[in-house]
Amino acid sequence: MKLNPLVSSLSLYDIAGTPGVAADVSHVNTRSEVAGYQGEGELGKALEGADVVIIPAGVPRKPGMTRDDLFNINAGIVKSLCTAISKYCPKALVNMISNPVNSTVPIAAEVFKKAGTYDEKRLFGVTTLDVVRAKTFYAGKANVPVAGVNVPVVGGHAGITILPLFSQATPKANLDHDVIVALTKRTQDGGTEVVEAKAGKGSATLSMAYAGALFADACLKGLNGVPDVVECSFVQSNVTELPFFASKVRLGKNGVEEVLGLGALSDYEKQGLENLKPELLASIEKGIKFAKQ
Ligand code: LMR
Repeated sequence: MKLNPLVSSLSLYDIAGTPGVAADVSHVNTRSEVAGYQGEGELGKALEGADVVIIPAGVPRKPGMTRDDLFNINAGIVKSLCTAISKYCPKALVNMISNPVNSTVPIAAEVFKKAGTYDEKRLFGVTTLDVVRAKTFYAGKANVPVAGVNVPVVGGHAGITILPLFSQATPKANLDHDVIVALTKRTQDGGTEVVEAKAGKGSATLSMAYAGALFADACLKGLNGVPDVVECSFVQSNVTELPFFASKVRLGKNGVEEVLGLGALSDYEKQGLENLKPELLASIEKGIKFAKQ
């Protein structure tokens, strides 16, 4: 975010260690002013005046864990951060990265509803890393330059709830069905691939930072009135019968300007969509139930 020319003020918050990170980042010669805040007592100052809040807080997975296994620790962290957001910057766009995103976004929505600050146009689950992975893997198989590749990824952000729509990928490539199946599986397991490679030392941080910065940049462009900014994100949605769903979203001056539909799906994708619904709904309901307690 320090590299982003649209950022004027960058606040870094953590429970500890933030002054060092802030001092380090502040030496990068871009225009934004950097400030570090640590400990709950400084959370309000960190949030005040923010237009966009990016939440990557919480613990990462270890090999063998699902994102849902992080629920017990991360749900409480997200709940308290969102409570502070509703108090100190209720109009900010919230970019939720903390896992399990399929549950933490509904938790945030409930916290904001309770505080009377909920605006469904301002709450986003960041699924950009799924798109980043789908583009990378597709470019490799289709043998095309990755810079020109586009692949929508819909559904949620965990296992089979991640549904890349390779039938809509551009540039078009006539890939065999078994290649599409393998690409789909690799995209769904992309996070796990990193978790296993890191062998207990965490999950994706560098590609996640890249993806998180891309999505926040899209939000900032929308806020600045740049037209036709479209990214996939997990948002409150009418695209399916599920209350939250990731699909293409047009971003504007108030956050979500339009939640776009799914477009034409292949039979394989239609089946994937039906298969993901029960798991995604259960994760959404788990988040709502937790927040209501
Ligand atoms: C990812 O997709 O890399 C993140 O959600 C982290 C994880 O646990 O997989």
